[in-house]
Parts: sequence; structure tokens; C-alpha cells
Amino acid sequence: MVRELSDPRKARSVFVETWGCQMNVLDGRRFVGLLGREGIVEARSAEEADVVLLNTCSVRDKAEQKVYDRIGRLAKLKRERPGMVIGVCGCVAQQEAEGLLARLPHVDFVLGTGRIEALPSVLRRVDEEGDRPCETGFDLDEVVYTPGAVAHAVPHRAGITVIEGCNKNCTFCVVPRTRGRERNRRLRDVVDEARSLVEAGVLEVELLGQTVNAFLDPETGEDLADLLRAVGALPGILRLRFVTSHPRNFSDRLIAAMCETPAVVTALHLPVQSGSDAVLKRMKRQYTRAEYLDLVARLRAAIPSLALSTDVIVGFPGETEADFVETLSLFEEVRFAGVFSFTYSPRPQTAALRWEHDVTSPEASARLVRLEALQQGVQRELNRELEGQTLEVLVEGLDRKRRNSSGRTRCGRVVNIAGESELAPGTLVDVRIERGFPNSLLGRRREEEEAEEGISLKGAADAASAARIPLSLDVQNLP
Ligand code: SAM
Ligand code: F3S
Repeated sequence: MVRELSDPRKARSVFVETWGCQMNVLDGRRFVGLLGREGIVEARSAEEADVVLLNTCSVRDKAEQKVYDRIGRLAKLKRERPGMVIGVCGCVAQQEAEGLLARLPHVDFVLGTGRIEALPSVLRRVDEEGDRPCETGFDLDEVVYTPGAVAHAVPHRAGITVIEGCNKNCTFCVVPRTRGRERNRRLRDVVDEARSLVEAGVLEVELLGQTVNAFLDPETGEDLADLLRAVGALPGILRLRFVTSHPRNFSDRLIAAMCETPAVVTALHLPVQSGSDAVLKRMKRQYTRAEYLDLVARLRAAIPSLALSTDVIVGFPGETEADFVETLSLFEEVRFAGVFSFTYSPRPQTAALRWEHDVTSPEASARLVRLEALQQGVQRELNRELEGQTLEVLVEGLDRKRRNSSGRTRCGRVVNIAGESELAPGTLVDVRIERGFPNSLLGRRREEEEAEEGISLKGAADAASAARIPLSLDVQNLP
């Protein structure tokens, strides 16, 4: 059956709803870009769209259940507008594949994480042949990626995938199943993509991969250290970040490249997952507590102002109170500037699924509360230490209350700028920090202060912005 389009004179539209990590966020922008080439415009909501794509995450059960709830609610919308197309993409699509089509009759197609570029042809099969395609394979040799077809959401910041998949097989993690084995792009392709983005006005580039520091050019053997130097040398690039790093792959060459590339920000996300050797071993993380702490020491010796953030899981099978206390003590020792903390969630096709889930849910939640209380105290202290300093802030938009302009420091700490509500995203301003809170900073624009004081401190402000501004935290919007 050939599908009847809603109004053939009106441009067709797509709405992408994304859950999960930065890789998913970028994939969502790839969907919009690829369909844009077919004349399909981006809609503001699912309600207005002809095509709705659910770009899903399955890293924890809660994330997966949210997807099913949403698909259920979209069924109602589709009953009212039968011409609407619903596609399930991302990690749940990869994981459940044909099963989704069997269970959910209102889903029109399933597109796995390795088949993003097939989206336009899949949609054509739905429209023209009445098919319900399920595309979920992986091309093991090469990353198929059309750089020009990414519709970046903001003009000043862009992510670039450099490595797809993950070979680590941590025993709790479904990602190697949902994103496949590592596939590297060529360094020169990544640099070319970064160059055209920077030439188009992008100030901040983020290199992405589940284990981004495992990057290895398939032809030349160049690694992430080489890539940082090459992208960091592009004229006009202001900030360069990379996420997510695995502690096991962190070489001294990479630390040297971070130090010697001025665009590289002074923040690093370095998931630790646990502070207990016994738990780390069962997680198959491939490092010990001592090795992690040694890496932190080497990083801090090289970049004293480095702000570290991390991921941690509590309530992993077999985690005793003593193991958990080891995690607390690691957190006291490292003093992370930001943390994503989770209770363990059993996942399909992972090794840990077979193990006794012996930490009860109330116990795991209680541990999470204890850890978060400790962490909030640390963050409040670290952020208070910034009071009185002037930091360079790249404006992102408005704060949560939509009152003040808000942005991030070189290391991604959120700064709300009092008395400023109309700074355009992408504006760079020097902000004097007045208050440090656990999750953000409040400051005032330096120029404004100077005008009020009636003195010119321009020379000093220029010097501050020319220097590598220390501190601040790279808070990912996920995972
Ligand atoms: N590649 C990254 C790394 O090296 O750790 C992280 C990948 S994962 C998408 C993001 C985070 O989700 C992990 O660091 C971990 O803390 C958390 N996570 C993954 N699987 C989980 C599970 N089964 N239960 C709870 N948290 C989980
Ligand atoms: Fe998951 Fe471990 Fe890879 S957390 S993404 S299997 S490094």
C-alpha cells in the first residue's frame, strides 16, 4: 500500500525525540540533516510532524521504559492522523529489532545505530512500498558518515563522531551490543569536518566516542593525541573537548597533547564506576583503584587546574558496604567537579545479568543518596573557591528560569550572568563570579562592572581571556 501524504503541497516535516548520550544527540542531528537533503523540514513538536523519530537509549531500564511509554502515547496521535510515520531508532531499536515491529503495530520502521545513513531509503520504502523495514546491521569495516548532512542545533558548537562502538565489554553495559564493535573514522576526514565547521563559525568542537581515547586511524595508526593536535591547530577554533575517555586508554602522549594544545579545555570526563578493586574487577573495567588514582595524579601534575568529572554505579552485584565505603573515600580523595551517579540496572545480554542481584533496591538508593550528599558538599566547596575570579564564558542561551543569559566556562561549569538577558548564543564574555552553588555559578559581566566602576580594566580583561582560564567543569548533558 502506498502511503497518502498529509498535504502534498506542504513540505513534509520530521521531529526527532532523543534520549541518552551525546552520541545519540549527534545521531539525532544526523537524522534531521539527512532528511533535510530530501526536502523534509524540522518540526517543532511530534504533534506537528509528519515523521516522528524516537532516538532511543537502553543503557538503563528506566531509560528504556520511558521510550515504551512514549511510543504508547504516540499511538493515540497516530490514530488521529493516520498518515503519520513513526520510526524507532537508536539503542532500543538495535537491541529489540524485529521484536519491536511485532509488538508495536503502529511503529512503521526500526533503524539501528549502525544504519543511520539508510534513513532516507528506509523512509522511501515505508512511503512507496508500504514496507515495515527493520535495518539493524553493522558495517564492520568502515564508518559510513556524511559530514555535510549533520544539522547542528546551534551555530557555535558542534560534536563530531570519531569512533563508533566499544570493545570493552564492561559486564554491566549494553553499549557494545547496541553500538557494535569499535569502528574508527580516518583522522583526515575528522579534521576536514572540523575545518569546515570552524570556517562556518563553530567555536567549540567536541570529539565523540564511547571510548574516544581508543581512537586509531585505520590507515595511518594516528591516535587521539595526534587528532587533538591537528584539530586544535585549526585557525579560529576556541575550545576543543573530547568525551568519553576510558582510564585504561589514557596515555602520557595524550596528556602531553592536552597540555600543548591551547584549544583543549581544562576539563575531563573520566568514568571511574567504583572505588573498590573487587567491584572494578567484576565490572571488568581493566584498571584498579590505584591505577585510576595514579592517572588522576599524572593529569593534575600536568594540568593543575583540570576539573574532573565522572560516572559511578552503586549497588552493583556483590557490592558490600565496605566496597561502597571505598567508593566514598575515592570521591573524597579525588574531589570531582561533577558526577553522574546511577544505581545498577540489569541489562539484557550483559554478563552481570546472570549474577545474583543481591543489593536490594532500597539499599542501592540509600547508597546513592549518601554519595550524592558527599558530592554536593564537594561541588559547593569547589565552586565557592571560584568566587572573585574572572572566567571566560561562552553564552549558550537563557538560564532555567529564562531570566539571565547563561553559558559555560572553558571547562563547562554553568554560569548564569546576572543583569544580562539578551546575549546571543555564541557570545564570549568575561564574567566575575559572585556566588558558587553546587551545580552552577552566578556572576556579573566584567565589562558591565567596569562601566559601573567608571574605570578601564580592559588590559587586564584581555590578558585574562588570552590566558588559559583555569577551572570549571565539563558537565555533559547526559548520559
Ligand atoms: N563509555 C563510557 C565509559 O567508558 O564508561 C560510558 C558509557 S554509558 C553510555 C554511560 C554511563 O552509564 C556509564 O559510564 C555508567 O556509569 C552508566 N551505566 C552503563 N550501564 C549501566 C547499568 N547497567 N546500570 C547503571 N548504570 C549504567
Ligand atoms: Fe560501556 Fe564500558 Fe564501553 S561502560 S560503553 S562497555 S567502556
